[in-house]
Parts: sequence; structure tokens; C-alpha cells
Amino acid sequence: VAIRYVHELDGIGPADLEGFFEGWPDPPSPATHRRLLASSAEIVLAVDDETGSVVGFVTAVTDGVLSAYVPLLEVLPAWRGRGIGSELVRRLVARLESLYAIDLTCDPNVQPFYERLGFVRTTGMAIRRYDRQSGADEPR
Ligand SMILES: CC(C)(COP(=O)(O)OP(=O)(O)OC[C@H]1O[C@@H](n2cnc3c(N)ncnc32)[C@H](O)[C@@H]1OP(=O)(O)O)[C@@H](O)C(=O)NCCC(=O)NCCS
Repeated sequence: VAIRYVHELDGIGPADLEGFFEGWPDPPSPATHRRLLASSAEIVLAVDDETGSVVGFVTAVTDGVLSAYVPLLEVLPAWRGRGIGSELVRRLVARLESLYAIDLTCDPNVQPFYERLGFVRTTGMAIRRYDRQSGADEPR
């Protein structure tokens, strides 16, 4: 199956974004997902050429001068293990090549994946407001 990599949302609607946020207790809806993609400074989408649906995505926010943060990376479960996640990260990093810092947080089991792509381990801190996990307008 052919995968096409794109960095904008032309022609992609909420119906093309089903199945993401696996395991999240209160996931964003496909419409909210599309909204956060539209507002991200950089995105890379892996699109199934046959159906036009998105099977993987990565996002970045940035000040455009020194730093970027990568909030989200996911490949749909049925599409994992074929290099799509690696390709999404490689393409995103290439689009951010002028920057000093590219940061993300991840679970320890994904650290080897990012190390293969040139990332180094750091220590981080974060706030997580679980009543806002869905990105809906009102906290739940
Ligand atoms: C992480 C993720 C994006 C990788 O996507 P992918 O398309 O499968 O990535 P690739 O095929 O390029 O690389 C897969 C490799 O990553 C490693 N890997 C990915 N996720 C892993 C995990 N949860 N635990 C251990 N290893 C993992 C494996 O070593 C795998 O190698 P293999 O193919 O030899 O088994 C995908 O597993 C995913 O969406 N996971 C759920 C969301 C997530 O964890 N996102 C990252 C948050 S920071």
C-alpha cells in the first residue's frame, strides 16, 4: 500500500482522522484533532493513497527562532512497525532544521525509537490537566 507524506491539510476532513489517540481516556474528537493540526506550526501526515485517510501524524509548535516542541506523534495500530513513525519524525526534524532545540516528552519504552532518530535523553517537567484532555471548549 502506498503512503504519501504531506505537510498541510488540503482535502483532509475529520472523517479522514478516525482511530487516533489510542488508549486516551478522554480523546479529542476527529474535528478537534483537525483543529489542532490546523493550528500547529508544522505537521507531517502519512496518508493512505488508496483511501485518502490519515494513518499517522506528527505535530510541532515553535517560536521559529530557537525552539520547537513536538506534542503528538501517532501511527494507527494497524500501520505500525513499517517505518511510518520514523519517516514522520525524520521529515518533521528536516522541516525544523534551522532551530537550536527540538523537545518532546515520551515514555521510557519509546526512548530507543527516538534515539535512532538522533534524539538524546533529557530530564523534563510537565503539567497535565486531565479534565482538559479532549481539547473540548469546556473542561469535563
Ligand atoms: C511510536 C510510534 C509512533 C512508532 O510508529 P511506527 O510507525 O510503528 O514506527 P516505525 O515503524 O518507524 O518504528 C517502529 C519501531 O519503534 C519501536 N517502538 C515504537 N513504539 C514502541 C513502544 N511502545 N515500545 C517499544 N518500542 C517501540 C520499535 O522498536 C519498533 O521497531 P520494530 O519495527 O523493529 O518493532 C507508534 O508505535 C505509536 O503511534 N505509538 C503510540 C503513540 C506513541 O507512543 N507516540 C509517541 C508519543 S511521544
